[in-house]
Amino acid sequence: MPHHTTFLALVAAGALLSPAAAPAGQGRATPATVKDVMTSMTIPASDRVFEAASEPPKTDDTWAVLRKAVETLAASGRLLTRAELARDKTTWMEMARALVTEADKALKVVQAKNGDALAQAGDDLYMTCENCHARYLESTAPADPPR
Ligand code: HEC
Repeated sequence: MPHHTTFLALVAAGALLSPAAAPAGQGRATPATVKDVMTSMTIPASDRVFEAASEPPKTDDTWAVLRKAVETLAASGRLLTRAELARDKTTWMEMARALVTEADKALKVVQAKNGDALAQAGDDLYMTCENCHARYLESTAPADPPR
């Protein structure tokens, strides 16, 4: 199976990721499928953002952890735009980029330590998850539709 190149490309992309943002026990596991990206990066990182939306960080350390999380989220969105993972070249790309855009906006909120703006950032972020899932999760059609 020609998965080797994909794997190496993702290792290169993943090298920029912070291990601090990965859940304990998963180390530097490299996401090679959309599901891997979701479970190793998108989900744990967005959980931190959603938690912070209801309870903003109180210390520099927890702001720093949150910053890693939004950076990981943006990185996960960029990974989803890779040819190996993208399900098509149009809507999928827009939706993956929307995740990057909202994560970058959340990064600005975090950099400004604007606790009051976290709830809105969390809501905006959540919309990008929902929009993509509404389109790509309900389909039980063949796993790899032609491009
Ligand atoms: C560009 C599209 C896209 C975006 C954006 C996206 N997802 Fe996903 N997500 C998927 C796809 C496709 C799957 C199904 C992967 C599979 O099972 O092959 C998935 C699966 C999941 C799952 C189920 C994982 C499992 O164990 O089966 C969760 C939970 C999830 N995503 C959370 C999120 C969250 C939270 C966000 C936003 C912060 C998000 N996703 C953003 C496409 C996306």
